[in-house]
Amino acid sequence: MLVRFKKNGEKIAMGLLSFMPQEKNLKKLQETIHTYENNSNWHLFMWKKDEDFVGLIGIETSDDVCLIQHISVTPSYRGEGIGKEMVSKVQQFLPCTQIQAAESTKPFIDKCLTMKDGTDA
Ligand SMILES: CC(C)(COP(=O)(O)OP(=O)(O)OC[C@H]1O[C@@H](n2cnc3c(N)ncnc32)[C@H](O)[C@@H]1OP(=O)(O)O)[C@@H](O)C(=O)NCCC(=O)NCCS
Repeated sequence: MLVRFKKNGEKIAMGLLSFMPQEKNLKKLQETIHTYENNSNWHLFMWKKDEDFVGLIGIETSDDVCLIQHISVTPSYRGEGIGKEMVSKVQQFLPCTQIQAAESTKPFIDKCLTMKDGTDA
């Protein structure tokens, strides 16, 4: 289930963000989480499975575009479709008509979007 990030989940969110290659440094991680908490165009969501948060997706919105800046899943839950499902659920929360990948998420998001189009079938 995709849920909006809440401040009391900050440490878990930072742990999930740290799986992204550009977020290994603590100072950078703190800046990133601060951006999600303070910039109204940046939206962070967590994937809740039973009582645990095992995934994260972060989006920057502008006009009708959702730009996926961050996506990560706890290693032990990878390969179960959580990443793809998070991408597919974003538009339930945000009024964007287009989903785009940032440089940092491009390989995985492009794969998801291609599959959605049915061109990878
Ligand atoms: C990328 C990530 C979020 C995928 O989550 P997931 O829940 O395992 O993804 P799904 O189960 O929905 O999809 C798995 C598919 O994505 C592919 N995949 C995984 N990581 C990928 C990547 N970085 N680029 C392209 N494809 C990727 C898998 O090979 C698999 O392909 P298949 O369905 O053809 O077998 C997860 O691997 C992760 O957290 N990686 C570390 C963080 C990161 O690097 N994020 C940016 C990725 S560009």
